[in-house]
Amino acid sequence: MTSTIDNVVSTTGLTKRYGKTITAVDALDLEVRRGEVFGFLGPNGAGKTTTLRMLLGLIRPTSGSARVVGRRPGEPAGLARIGSLVESPAFYPYLSGRENLKVVADYAGLSLAGIDAALDEVELLPRAKDRFGTYSMGMKQRLAVAAALIKEPELMILDEPTNGLDPQGVVEMRTLIRRLGTGSRTVLLSSHLLNEVEQTCDRVAIIRKGKLVAQGRVDELRGQATLIVKASPSDAARQSLERMLGKAAVAGVDGTLRLSVSPDRAPDINAALVSAGIRVSELRPAERTLEEVFLSLTGEAA
Ligand SMILES: Nc1ncnc2c1ncn2[C@@H]1O[C@H](COP(=O)(O)OP(=O)(O)O)[C@@H](O)[C@H]1O
Ligand SMILES: [Mg+2]
Repeated sequence: MTSTIDNVVSTTGLTKRYGKTITAVDALDLEVRRGEVFGFLGPNGAGKTTTLRMLLGLIRPTSGSARVVGRRPGEPAGLARIGSLVESPAFYPYLSGRENLKVVADYAGLSLAGIDAALDEVELLPRAKDRFGTYSMGMKQRLAVAAALIKEPELMILDEPTNGLDPQGVVEMRTLIRRLGTGSRTVLLSSHLLNEVEQTCDRVAIIRKGKLVAQGRVDELRGQATLIVKASPSDAARQSLERMLGKAAVAGVDGTLRLSVSPDRAPDINAALVSAGIRVSELRPAERTLEEVFLSLTGEAA
């Protein structure tokens, strides 16, 4: 059992419907823990943005509930502790990066003292005096992150922050995301890119058509390992394994069987086959890549 105290975000049955036919988010149970970089992974249209908008109180759920930094979504005391990049913010092209952040801080009633620290954290301090209009896409996006950092949020919510960036901008943004997640700050990042989540996140939730299909540590999900068995006679091996593990856990062709069980069970399985008079020529774990996990769960190309 994990304590709910350390969940920065938790949702229970969170659902958003549009009209009678569209269920954008379908009974979602999410748990984001303090201090982690959490990846919210799913193909386009899966319901990521809709979920993040509900967490920020920008739209209301149809049913279900959510707690974010210990508050109901949209409560001012909670919003004060959340930085977000969900809609791209508007900056003035003729003002410098620093001047734009002053506008943001003034508007939000925040002290100007945190501006240079925020610029430093996104590595824009050397360009702080340059006009926003001269920034690259990546710098513009990093300034948006800095704007969210001024209030020193304990939770950062980033909706597909690398979309539209060139390859260098993508690399810089991913480095920044990892850095944002050091210490006690929590980062909730959505993405449709598997390798992005793999590179930046500690834990991940995978959604498809609004439904949660997996949630866990990246290494755990990848490690939903299988056992490969070669044994003869292969028909007898198959029957014996199906009796032992259930039909659903045994798959395979041409005498090579793939068992959906933990590799820890290899010794038991070997002993059972041998005692049934079956000769085992191979028994080894096969780790799936996160890509295989993603494909099998979402049925779509990553
Ligand atoms: N305001 C809306 N009205 C009707 N349908 C919507 C609305 N917003 C989102 N949707 C639908 O909800 C689904 C999820 O969308 P979205 O949350 O934007 O997905 P993602 O961010 O994962 O790409 C999509 O089918 C989308 O068309
Ligand atoms: Mg989206």
